[in-house]
Order: sequence, then structure tokens, then C-alpha cells
Amino acid sequence: MQNPITDQLNRPLHDLRISVIDRCNFRCPYCMPTEKEGTHYSFLKQDEWLTFPEIVRLTRLLVELGVRKVRLTGGEPLLRPGIVDLVKNLSAIAGIEDLALTTNGSALSKFAAPLKAAGLQRLTVSLDSLDARVFKHMSGGKGSLHEVLAGIEEAQRVGFGSIKINVVVQKGVNDNSIVDLVSHFKNSPHVLRLIEYMDVGNCNHWESKYVVSSKEIIRLISQQHALEPLPSNYFGEVAERYRFKDGGGEIGFISSISQPFCQSCTRLRLANDGKLYTCLFATQGTDIKKLVRQGANDQDLSSALKAVWAKRQDRYSQERSEIRSKTSKQKVSNPKIEMFQIGG
Ligand code: GTP
Ligand code: 5AD
Ligand code: SF4
Ligand code: SF4
Repeated sequence: MQNPITDQLNRPLHDLRISVIDRCNFRCPYCMPTEKEGTHYSFLKQDEWLTFPEIVRLTRLLVELGVRKVRLTGGEPLLRPGIVDLVKNLSAIAGIEDLALTTNGSALSKFAAPLKAAGLQRLTVSLDSLDARVFKHMSGGKGSLHEVLAGIEEAQRVGFGSIKINVVVQKGVNDNSIVDLVSHFKNSPHVLRLIEYMDVGNCNHWESKYVVSSKEIIRLISQQHALEPLPSNYFGEVAERYRFKDGGGEIGFISSISQPFCQSCTRLRLANDGKLYTCLFATQGTDIKKLVRQGANDQDLSSALKAVWAKRQDRYSQERSEIRSKTSKQKVSNPKIEMFQIGG
């Protein structure tokens, strides 16, 4: 296998995040707010979806170009019919060192065992509050806290050792839930990750006043639990790792707003419409499905994939304020892709 390819800022290609469906049974206000009366999201039609053989083929070629970590996302990936078969086929690709999936946890009780058996290595579950009312609000009235907690338990039972628990913190919405979440997952094998609310997509109508910085969150937690920083596990790790000083385990902070990490961003995203995106905040992707369906051979496809990474210059989080102030003054003809289309 050749050395990983690098982009314009000398960042190697290392991670592939595959969004397998743009639909979700939740309506989290920070990602896919509940539709207003008379409006609806326009989801892809099934014949527009990348098929499993297409996903597997593209993944295999990207692994030849350096990808080592693969994460399945959505929307809600467990809504994709046959998801377990996809995991099985991906886990058979030699060269993938880490195969993970991010879910809202609502169907995890049912899927944890078959996913484990199919070769899934790691799970991340989104869980924004342990207060049933706040949780309900943050899932757009759709989720059941009990189901998600049962899903996490079942995943642990079938052998997912350390599960990452993602919490998006929104000021005035769930910032009061942080300490409870910390206490709940402290002394467990799982790793809570507190995420700064980001301006992904357009439909969440993000404003900086709703962001609680990691610094503030750390200060809040430290009032009850002493923390100390840990070194990164690997180059380009998104979360800053900390541990509880009393041995209560690990916790992470993801600070895309206050401390952007674009300089070490090694992530390529493949959306379910067959477009490749080189940044979470992209406005345009490269239609690789078109090439696949035109009958391109592996060599041509591989060259096209290489070219996408080779021309990559994205560093949105580092340029955020500049870009936002520019685009707020003009009519934006090319809106950002939504989180549920590109995956987290
Ligand atoms: P591990 O492989 O367990 O380290 O997971 P990860 O760090 O890849 O974490 P995960 O996929 O759970 O990402 C956590 C959250 O971080 C996502 O839901 C996003 O909110 C945010 N995030 C992940 N990747 C990026 C990125 O490339 N840019 C920005 N700005 N945010 C990201
Ligand atoms: N800001 C930060 N993280 C977000 N996610 C979705 N929308 C946002 C946002 N606006 C993340 C959550 C969720 C994952 C699927 O995407 O971590 O767990
Ligand atoms: Fe669904 Fe996840 Fe988006 Fe929430 S964050 S609406 S669970 S895709
Ligand atoms: Fe990577 Fe774009 Fe996120 Fe920066 S903003 S870390 S380039 S995905």
C-alpha cells in the first residue's frame, strides 16, 4: 500500500466518514429542527442513494489511498435498510483499522448485537441530557431517553467496551444538564464528549450567543470534579482529552468554535447522494457517483479520488468569522450542506 496522499496544506488523508442516509427519526434543534407548518425537508429518493456495492468499492479505493478510520453516520444510520450487511462488507476490507458508527441510540437495543457480530468496532451515541424533558426537547419531541439509555446498556452488554457519548451544548437549552451527565458517566468505561455548538448547515439558525465554550464547560465541571489533560491518542484527534484526577475515567471536549483544529483535519466525507466533501462546512461536493455510474474503472476512480484530496484547501473553522461576515452581507447562492446530509 502506498503512502497516504496529502492535500494543499500537507494534511494526509486518514479518515472517511460515510453518511448512509439523510433521514432521521429525531429533530435535534442544532441539526434538523422540527419542520414549521407547511414546510418539509426534501430527502433523497432511494434511487439517488449510493448502493452498498458502490460504498464498499469507493471505500476500498480510499483505503488504498491512505484511509485507516471509517465512520458511518447519517442522518440516523440505523434507519438505512440493511445497515448490518454494509458493516459486514466494510469490516472485510483489509487496511481499515477502525470501523465506527455514530447513532442517536433509539434503535440500539435492537442493533447492538448484530452490529457487533458484523464487525463494528466502536460506537458513538448522541445524548444531550439525562433530564427527560430537556432530552425530549433536544430530540424535537421525538426521542425517548429510556430507549437511548437502554441502547447504551445493551451495547455495553454485547461487548462495545468504551462508548463515546456526544453532547452538543447549547446555552440556555442543555447547559444545566452537563454536571448530571458527567456524574452519570464518570466511573464508567464510556467517554463523555462535550461539543461546542457549531454553525453547520443553515437550518439551525446558529448564533454565537448559544455557544458555551469548552473553557467555560471545563470550569463548570471542575467545580465538582478535578480534571487534568491527557495527550492525544493520534494525530488529528478532534477531542481534547482529560481525565478525572480521582481515577473516574476520561472525558473529552470538542472546540471547533473556540479552538479550531483544521490544521490537522484528515477527514473526507462521502454523502449518500454520492458526493465527496472535503469539509463539514462545504457548500459544494464532487459527484463521484456520476463517475461510478458512467462505468469508470478502478484506476480512473482512484485518480478522481486522489484529485479531490490533492486540491483540498478547506479550513473553515479557522476562517469562520471572516467567511460569516462576508456571506451575511451578500445573498448566498450556494448554501452550506446540512449536518444530516453530510454526517457529524
Ligand atoms: P473518535 O474516532 O472516537 O476520536 O471520534 P471523532 O473524534 O471522529 O468523533 P465524532 O465522529 O464522534 O465527532 C464528534 C463531533 O465532533 C462531531 O459530531 C462533530 O460535531 C465534531 N466534528 C467531527 N469532525 C469534525 C470536523 O472535521 N470539523 C469540525 N468542525 N467538527 C468536527
Ligand atoms: N454542532 C455541533 N455538533 C453537532 N452535531 C450535529 N449538529 C451539530 C452542531 N450544530 C453532532 C452531534 C451528533 C452528531 C451526529 O453530530 O455530535 O452527535
Ligand atoms: Fe438526527 Fe443526529 Fe441530526 Fe439529531 S443530530 S437530528 S439524531 S442526525
Ligand atoms: Fe476539517 Fe473543515 Fe472541520 Fe476544519 S472546519 S476541521 S477543515 S471539516
